[in-house]
Amino acid sequence: MCGIVGCILKEDDDVAPILFDCISKLEYRGYDSIGLATFDGGKIHIKKDKGKIEEVDKSLNLTDMPGNFGIAHVRWATHGDPSKLNSHPHVDEENTVAVVHNGIIENYLEIKEELIGEGHRFKSETDTEVIPHLIQKFMDEGNDLEHAVRKTIGVIEGAYAIAAISVNEPDKIVATRKDSPLIIGLGENGYYLASDSPAILKYAKDIIYPEKGEIAILDKTGVVVHDEFDNAVNKEIETINWTPEMAEKEGYEHFMIKEINEQATAVRNTLTQRENIQNIIDEVGDLQRICFVACGTSYHASLTGKYLIESLAGIPTDVILASEFKYSANTLNDKTLVVFISQSGETADSLKALDVANKTSKTLGIVNVAGSAITRRADYVIQTQAGPEIGVAATKTYVAQLTSIYLFAALLASDEELLNDLDNVPDFIDEVLLQNDLIEELSKRYNYARDFFYLGRGYSYPTALEGALKLKEISYIHGEGYAAGELKHGPLALIDEGIPVVVIIPPGDNYRKTMSNLEEVKSRGANVLAIGAEGDESLESKANAIISINPDVKEIIAPLVYIVPLQLIAYYITLEKGHDPDKPKNLAKCVTVE
Ligand code: AGP
Repeated sequence: MCGIVGCILKEDDDVAPILFDCISKLEYRGYDSIGLATFDGGKIHIKKDKGKIEEVDKSLNLTDMPGNFGIAHVRWATHGDPSKLNSHPHVDEENTVAVVHNGIIENYLEIKEELIGEGHRFKSETDTEVIPHLIQKFMDEGNDLEHAVRKTIGVIEGAYAIAAISVNEPDKIVATRKDSPLIIGLGENGYYLASDSPAILKYAKDIIYPEKGEIAILDKTGVVVHDEFDNAVNKEIETINWTPEMAEKEGYEHFMIKEINEQATAVRNTLTQRENIQNIIDEVGDLQRICFVACGTSYHASLTGKYLIESLAGIPTDVILASEFKYSANTLNDKTLVVFISQSGETADSLKALDVANKTSKTLGIVNVAGSAITRRADYVIQTQAGPEIGVAATKTYVAQLTSIYLFAALLASDEELLNDLDNVPDFIDEVLLQNDLIEELSKRYNYARDFFYLGRGYSYPTALEGALKLKEISYIHGEGYAAGELKHGPLALIDEGIPVVVIIPPGDNYRKTMSNLEEVKSRGANVLAIGAEGDESLESKANAIISINPDVKEIIAPLVYIVPLQLIAYYITLEKGHDPDKPKNLAKCVTVE
């Protein structure tokens, strides 16, 4: 949903190669267009265009720009098509102010009209362009850059992380945020700002997190942060423990396949959170109800949480899509724990819901990105230990979320057996990954398919939903996840000769009933791919193809393991189709608009 960076170097070296390196790391946030602005020789230099980073760089040579400070942007279009004119940085009429912005200015049309009335002329269709015009207007009225930005945020409404530079006050970058992420990095060679930490991991590990309405001023001597009353704020400096290599492909063809292969480690590392989770449970005390709130993949992890908590701890548990939360949130009370699951910790729908839930209930965030908005606003935090996830499709963060939920449910219910079983999960995952080549081959069989169904019961139902989401978001093939028993209530009508139906059928209580559902679709001509236990002869005789999982993977922990072949299938089908799994069309990693 757009990414911004900024950098001012302590020495007079060229900043463009560094800006380009940093913004390239944020490509997962937007890949419609890219642009850089630097300052040198009394003027702002801009290079920008629509297209993927490497394409634009090839034609514009983005690293060849003068100046030791500047700002950069990757765009995920909301207002205005992807085009050169709509690309950031945006400037005022005289090119005196350049701005990059992540978010949405909701009242930009009114502001634009007013500014046009005052004689301003606009070039783009974006909401962002009003910002440099406002800053320039306030600077013309005698304000310095910081105060012009302050006045500007008094006028604009919506969500924003903004960075601005001005020819009238060079050698400084001014940045601010509200409801969009922004971090400030203190590096050895200079000072940085970014939407997300992978951008600057190579250059700065000491991070400041500006709060809503605070203004950060970066110059070659350091960073100061002012609150809304112009007082200097003594910000805490937090050190990120992620390494730059963690945000690189390290020899893999795509981030997605690298991240799929990192899942055993993600589970192992997240299991270290056990003590923290026990402390949270002790502190929260008596609970009458738990309510999960999340979107997309995180919603599917939440659904697994409902099954676990209700059956193990007997606590009534709801799962609400964050975007629907405001329509159903009026029954929460102080005996409700509202759990927000989010890999990014910045999803706008979830943040809005968190603000509502904080008024009545205790809140817990299960989040992968340290220092993200949810971690700062929730009462309690479990940090999943998946490391940076760059591929737009969530994979390792999903199993890390599940691991946290399993720990939470098992500790809540004092279920020692489940706690012990969790220790075996990393090895089970690695066993599935050994079948990579086989799954790659198998995926080629489905090149003809336009629709896929995924079926599962009980704990395997959210896995079916997640398998279908993975497929559709990266391969653009229609995938439907269904509760296996629900199919006969309508969707069975869609099952036809050759339609691929993926049946998730681990050994356990639901096995027989799921097998009946498998037979229902098989007898209607479906091409059944079963994900089941190795050595299951009955499955071998009924399914068209099987991916075998270690039979010791019990039904209750199956979601942590059975999702892995589904991720691989989605990945390899996507490659067969010739699409880029890391950058699916229309999507971005972090959705900071409602
Ligand atoms: C996952 O593959 C998707 N890209 C998407 O559904 C994602 O899970 C959703 O946008 C929620 O994001 P979050 O976990 O960062 O809140």
